[in-house]
Amino acid sequence: MKNPSNLLTVEALEQSFGGVMALAGVSFQTPENLIYAIIGPNGAGKTTLFNVLCGFYQPSAGALCFNGYELRGLPPHHIAALGIARTFQNLQLFFNMTVLENVMVGCHLRAKTGLLAAALRLPRVRREERQLRAWAAEALELCELSDRAGQPAGALPYGLMKRVEIARALAAKPRLLLLDEPAAGLNDTETMALRDLIARIRATGVTVLLVEHHMPLVMSISDRLLVLDYGSVLAEGSPAEIQANPRVIAAYLGGAVQYAV
Ligand SMILES: Nc1ncnc2c1ncn2[C@@H]1O[C@H](COP(=O)(O)OP(=O)(O)OP(=O)(O)O)[C@@H](O)[C@H]1O
Ligand SMILES: [Mg+2]
Repeated sequence: MKNPSNLLTVEALEQSFGGVMALAGVSFQTPENLIYAIIGPNGAGKTTLFNVLCGFYQPSAGALCFNGYELRGLPPHHIAALGIARTFQNLQLFFNMTVLENVMVGCHLRAKTGLLAAALRLPRVRREERQLRAWAAEALELCELSDRAGQPAGALPYGLMKRVEIARALAAKPRLLLLDEPAAGLNDTETMALRDLIARIRATGVTVLLVEHHMPLVMSISDRLLVLDYGSVLAEGSPAEIQANPRVIAAYLGGAVQYAV
C-alpha cells in the first residue's frame, strides 16, 4: 500500500538476466529523510536495485514510485532530473580532470540549457552556469573537498576520490542519494569520516539509500535496513531488529552480531 509520507515505494520489482532472477519480487518503502540501508550477501541484487532505480535497466515487472512519479519506463537523465543521484561500486571518475570539473559533471545533469543556447552564451545560460558552480561549491564544501577543487582527481588518495564521487552526486541536488559501497577500500579513519559525512548529508534533508557491507558503519548510522538474499527480501526493520533476526544471522551476519562503534 502506498503511504504519501514515503519518498520511495518499490512494489514487486523483478529484474532477470537470462536465467538469473537478480530481483525476484522486491517490495519496500523508504520514508523521507532517513538513512535506509540495503544489505545482503554478494550477488543478492543490491547494485541491480540501484541500476533499476536509476533507469539503467528496465525491470520486467513491478512498480517504482518516487515522490509521486512512476519511474518505470523513464530514461536515466529524466530520473536524475526528478532528484535521484548515485555513486558507483567501482570508482567512475575522470582522473585527468580536476576535482571541481568532476563535480560539475554532476550539476550538468540538472542543467536545462540546450546546445544552441549554450553556444550563443545567452544571459540565462550564464545565470545557469553560475547556479551550477554554486551547487558544485556547496557539494565540495559539504564533502570537505573545497581545498582540493583545483587538483586532478587522479592525484587524490583513494578515500578522497570516493568523496569526489559523493560530491558529484550531491551537486545534482538530489532528494534521494544512492551510495553503493562507499566504505569499500577505506581505512578505519576514513570510514569514520564517511559516517560523519553521511550524517551531514541527511541533515541537509537528503534521503540516503546505503548499500554497504561494513556492518559497524551500517548498524551505527541507519534508521532502517532492508536485507536482500538471492533477489528477495529476507527482512526489513530497525538495526536492533535486523541484528536479532535468526534468518539474517544465518544468511549473512553470521556469529558477529554486535556492531557497536
Ligand atoms: N548486467 C548483468 N548481466 C548479467 N547478470 C547480472 C548483471 N548484473 C548483475 N547480474 C547478476 O545479478 C545478480 C545480482 O548482482 P548484483 O550486482 O546486483 O549483486 P550485489 O548484491 O550488488 O552484490 P555485491 O555485494 O557483490 O556487489 C548476480 O547473480 C549477478 O551476477
Ligand atoms: Mg553490488
